[in-house]
Amino acid sequence: MALITKKIKGTEDVLPKDSYRWQFVENIMRNEARSYGFKEIRTPVFEHTELFTRGVGQTTDVVQKEMYTFDTKGGESVTLRPEGTAGAARAVLEHSLENDGLPIKASYFVSCYRYEKPQAGRLREFHQFGLEEYGTQSPAADAELICAAQSIFDRLGIEQLRLEINSIGCPVCRAEYHQALKSYFEGYTDKLCDTCLSRLDKNPMRILDCKSPICSKIAEGVPKITDFLCDECREHFDAVQKYLDAADIKYTVNPTIVRGLDYYTKTVFEFVTDCIGAQGTVCGGGRYDGLIEELGGKHLPSLGFAMGLERLLMLMDTQGIEIPKPTGCDLYVAAMGENAAFKAFEIIKSVRDSGLIAETDVVGRGLRAQMKYADKIGAKYSLVIGDNELEQGEAEVKNMESGEKTRLALDNTFAEKFSILEITDDKAFKI
Ligand code: HAM
Repeated sequence: MALITKKIKGTEDVLPKDSYRWQFVENIMRNEARSYGFKEIRTPVFEHTELFTRGVGQTTDVVQKEMYTFDTKGGESVTLRPEGTAGAARAVLEHSLENDGLPIKASYFVSCYRYEKPQAGRLREFHQFGLEEYGTQSPAADAELICAAQSIFDRLGIEQLRLEINSIGCPVCRAEYHQALKSYFEGYTDKLCDTCLSRLDKNPMRILDCKSPICSKIAEGVPKITDFLCDECREHFDAVQKYLDAADIKYTVNPTIVRGLDYYTKTVFEFVTDCIGAQGTVCGGGRYDGLIEELGGKHLPSLGFAMGLERLLMLMDTQGIEIPKPTGCDLYVAAMGENAAFKAFEIIKSVRDSGLIAETDVVGRGLRAQMKYADKIGAKYSLVIGDNELEQGEAEVKNMESGEKTRLALDNTFAEKFSILEITDDKAFKI
């Protein structure tokens, strides 16, 4: 029979045999976020469309071309989140989190949706880990955030990932820059694509993100934003670099980074690699001092970053970084006969209650097949219960690797005695 359905183009399944890789990476991110004082925020997968058109920006590719937007049965326009920043900012505003004291530090794991052309490292549903911080304009916060991203990469053992930083100024210096960009691009109006032409008046900086080869080539000669920074933005950017130097974080200043979302001000940064093909930006972020105001709140200078989990895992793969496999099964209890099956059920429950992983047969297999299954799941120990063992009230726990056997009573002391036996494998990690 033909498959009823296949997954939607640009989406991926994470199968049970592979999910430990995600969990390992997520655990490191969660712990690192905690050590920098961030607490997790969870926001809905869909929001009012206007949140993204206003937050992310009308002239961005994300809003113009990539959003999954639909009308609900009640006639409201909603959008599946294309990123995590706007939703988190909305929640901060809606719940007046600034009343709990500043800065507010939030971390998140989100699935995101963008209708892009799928390719390696570019999906229509992808996953981000992000940190957002609200209520600080200090350059120390910019540097601290970059340090947090760097330390996650270090803990994961990732190499060949370069940090590129830039400042795209504030609305004051950006107005002057926009004018310079406009004059430059006006010399190429016969060559720019239609989207870029429509951006020329509204937001010429967005032309710098255009993926068309002709527009990208023209954009190579544009004036540099760093030549237009006002004193305050220049001082801020210099100070961010001094903090990064103090923390011994290596970076290069790349004046062509403008980021693809409209909310950024001052510092922007990306962690980029050449190891995973064309989609080499693993992490991107920066300051967005005007976003909360844009969404209707008070002035609350803020900043953040997000890293793509799929790209990160791809990079770890290409660099041969081994992710430790979790403990499979500590004890498999095979049973022969109905009474033995009840006893096995009782034993595994007590072993599980003691914090270990235990399994028994729930398929109705014979002994040979049960032992084959125990092998397949990599059980560290096995125990066979039949009529004899029930009669004697004892059975042999077998170490599946060494073959060593230990007799244990099948009573309420079993779990405790088994835990003493169980050797913690250094390489294994428990989820
Ligand atoms: P972004 O650069 O659009 O920034 O996305 C951040 C990261 O998400 C990228 O560096 C990449 O790893 C991953 N990513 C983006 N699009 C895709 C895709 N189609 N397929 C797979 N991975 C993808 C943001 O989203 C901002 N909200 C980051 C931020 C947080 N800025 C401040 N706070």
